[in-house]
Amino acid sequence: MENSIRSIMEYLCDTLTCDMLTFEKITYSKCRDSAVVRSVVTPFAKRGEAYVQIETFLSDGKALHRNIPAREAAEVLCEYAERLYKQTNVKTPDGDCEIRFSKKEKCDIRNGIRVPETEERGARVARVQKLPASHDRKKRYLLENADGTLPAFLYHLGITDEGGRILDKKRPKYRQINRFLELVDDIYGLLPENGTLVIYDLCCGKSYLTFAVYHYFTQIKGRTVKMHGVDLKPDVIAYCSETAAALGMENLSFSCGDINAYTPPAGEVPHLVLSLHACDIATDIVLTNAVRFGAKVVLSTPCCHHEVFHNIRSEELSFVTRHSMLGQKLSDAVTDALRCLWLEMQNYDVQTMELIDPEETPKNMMIRAIKRAKPRTEEDFLRRKAQYDAACTLIGFVPYLGRNSFEPSGFDRNGFLRDGNQNQNDPDTNGKE
Ligand SMILES: C[S@@+](CC[C@H](N)C(=O)[O-])C[C@H]1O[C@@H](n2cnc3c(N)ncnc32)[C@H](O)[C@@H]1O
Repeated sequence: MENSIRSIMEYLCDTLTCDMLTFEKITYSKCRDSAVVRSVVTPFAKRGEAYVQIETFLSDGKALHRNIPAREAAEVLCEYAERLYKQTNVKTPDGDCEIRFSKKEKCDIRNGIRVPETEERGARVARVQKLPASHDRKKRYLLENADGTLPAFLYHLGITDEGGRILDKKRPKYRQINRFLELVDDIYGLLPENGTLVIYDLCCGKSYLTFAVYHYFTQIKGRTVKMHGVDLKPDVIAYCSETAAALGMENLSFSCGDINAYTPPAGEVPHLVLSLHACDIATDIVLTNAVRFGAKVVLSTPCCHHEVFHNIRSEELSFVTRHSMLGQKLSDAVTDALRCLWLEMQNYDVQTMELIDPEETPKNMMIRAIKRAKPRTEEDFLRRKAQYDAACTLIGFVPYLGRNSFEPSGFDRNGFLRDGNQNQNDPDTNGKE
C-alpha cells in the first residue's frame, strides 16, 4: 500500500467484505467547517454486502447518518480526509494510521497499518469477527468496557446493581453522563497532548459525572489527571471521597464548600471545568469561577432558571411574560443567551448544544466555552457589552453575571433600573397576570 490518503482509503474500503474486516473505526476530527464537530465511520453488513456508516456530529448536538456500500466508499472517505477534516484516525486489526494537516496545510501521514499477506489473510478471515449486521448494531456508550461490562464505580454510585446491570430508574442518568462524555470527547483535541490534565467539576453533587470523566481520561484515553470536585453538601462529598479512595482512584479529590471560596493550589490552572445541572444562579457561580480560574474549556449544563423569570420587568415583553409558561421559556432563553454573551466578553468562544433527547429532560442545554488564544479587540468587547446592556434595559433587570462583574449604567446593585423605573410594571406580578 502506498503512503497516500487515496491508497489507504482504497485499501480499507475495496478489500472490506462481510468476512474481512479491514478497519474497525475511522474518526475524522478538527473539521474545517465550524458547524461540524466530527465524523465516525464504522463498517457493517447488510444483506450479505459490506457497508460503511458515516455518523457526523454537528456542533448544535445533532447527528447525521449516511450508509454507503463499501465498494463505493473510498472516494467519499478520501474527500473527508483531504478536504473536510484536518485530522483522521484509522483503527484497524492490523495497526492504526493517523493523517494530520498542519496549520500550513502540510499533510503528515503516520501509517502503521500492515497489509496481511494473502495466505495470512485466509487464516485471518477465519478468526476475524464477521461484520456486525446493521440490525444488530445497538448504541455503544463510552462508559461500556470493550467486553460489554460496565466500570465498577457505577455500582458504588448506585447506577448499576451488584451484577453490573443498570438499574431501570438510573437509565436516564446513565444516558445523560454518556452523552456528556461524548461532548468531552469532542473537545479532547483541544486539551494538551501530554502531561497531567487538571479538571474541576463544580457543583459536583453525588459526582456521577466526576467519576465518569475521571474514568474516560484515565481508562479510555490513558491520561494522567488531577481531578477535583467541589460541592456544598458535606455528606455527599464524604461519600465521594471514600468511594474514590476505595476504588484506588489516584489524584481524584473532593472538597466541601462554596465554589466562590474555593482557591486552587498555587499556580494551578484547570484545563477543563465541568458542571452538570447546577441550579439557577449556581450555574452563574460556576461560570464566574471557571473564568476566575482561567479555565481553557468550560462545559456547563444549566439546571432550573428562576432568577430572570422572577425579576423580569418589561412593558415591551409583557405580551409574553403575562403567560407564565411562555414567560418562563423566554426567561430561560434570555438567561442562557446572556450567559453566552458574558462568556464572550470574558474572551471565550461560545456554543450551545443539546445534551440529550429533550423528551428525557427539559434541562438539556450545554454551554461550551473555549478560551481564545488571542484576546478580543476592545471594539469587539464593547459591541458585546452594549448588547448586554441593551438586553438588560429591555428586560428591566441585570442577571447575576452582569451584576457581579460590572454595573450596567442605570441599574442599582440589585440589578433593577434606577430612579424607580422598575415600577413601570407592577413589581408583584412582573407584568404577569
Ligand atoms: C442539582 S445538583 C447537581 C449535582 C450533580 N452535578 C449532578 O448532576 O448530579 C446541584 C448541586 O450544586 C451544589 N451547589 C449549589 N450552589 C453551590 C455553591 N455555591 N458551591 C458549591 N456547590 C453548590 C448543590 O449542593 C448541589 O449538590
